[in-house]
Amino acid sequence: MRELPPLALDTQAFAAKYGPWAVIAGASEGTGACYARELAAMGINLVLVSRRQEALEALGEELKGSYGIDYRAAALDLSAEGAGLRILEAASGLDVGLYISNAGADDFARFFEDGAEGAHRLVRMNISTLIDASNGFGQGFLKRGTGGIIVMASGAGLGGQPNLALYSATKAFEINFAESLWAEYHERGIDVIGIAAPLMKTPTLLRLVPEDFDLSTAYEPADVTHNALAGLLAGEPIQIVPDGPGQEKQPQVEADRKARLVGFVEFNKMFTGG
Ligand SMILES: NC(=O)c1ccc[n+]([C@@H]2O[C@H](COP(=O)([O-])OP(=O)(O)OC[C@H]3O[C@@H](n4cnc5c(N)ncnc54)[C@H](OP(=O)(O)O)[C@@H]3O)[C@@H](O)[C@H]2O)c1
Repeated sequence: MRELPPLALDTQAFAAKYGPWAVIAGASEGTGACYARELAAMGINLVLVSRRQEALEALGEELKGSYGIDYRAAALDLSAEGAGLRILEAASGLDVGLYISNAGADDFARFFEDGAEGAHRLVRMNISTLIDASNGFGQGFLKRGTGGIIVMASGAGLGGQPNLALYSATKAFEINFAESLWAEYHERGIDVIGIAAPLMKTPTLLRLVPEDFDLSTAYEPADVTHNALAGLLAGEPIQIVPDGPGQEKQPQVEADRKARLVGFVEFNKMFTGG
């Protein structure tokens, strides 16, 4: 497995800013469960969303037992029409300070050979559901004056890739969407970060790759999610975890993207009078 140096994270400050409830879309295993464990250890209550009710309840009970948190478990398919609104319903009445859009991978289809239905599923999960859920939670964050959104995107969203046409395209949407919301709202107390995630040893990845796939360059999911939480609290708009061809340039790409955004925040003030 590949090492990822851990970023410092002030857990008390994190819980004060993004508690008392967090919502994780795609929570039952892998990176979603890693987020759940680290948030529960901070005493943050959880709305756990994914397709398998039993797996969500098992995780919720475990975290309730270990950390005394409350949880809600909501089984729904994030690639279904209207899923974003159903996430909001699942969290209704709760004081939510953090939304994590985690699930985002499907089977990797060959675009021409496999037809477009899988592609539309990815568009619904990674675009429509993200839009509706983050819009709803964001309205609450504006009223609270604080809140956070983590969007688990992918290095595949930094440019095109073979065999990943729709995955890459929807991950590019996620990254630009997160960066744009950061630029628009971070001065108003709402933090948004897009994670250009690397190859990680998750159950989804293990189901998708051949048995003899070389995992030596894959990261531990918990390392990536820890740094994502730290990056959110640090007020970063994007985190690119070095991975794949051209990875030596990625720290500079991250810095350049942030500098461009900061420039646009100032530029935009000419139009808004802010
Ligand atoms: N793994 C990698 O190498 C890698 C690389 C780059 C980026 N990423 C990104 O990181 C994120 C998480 O990684 P991962 O995909 O490998 O996932 P994962 O950590 O294995 O977990 C996926 C979670 O999402 C849920 N989920 C999947 N499809 C869903 C659907 N249609 N509706 C509701 N819940 C669903 C799964 O639970 P249920 O089965 O219970 O629904 C599971 O809890 C994704 O956004 C992915 O694009 C991953």
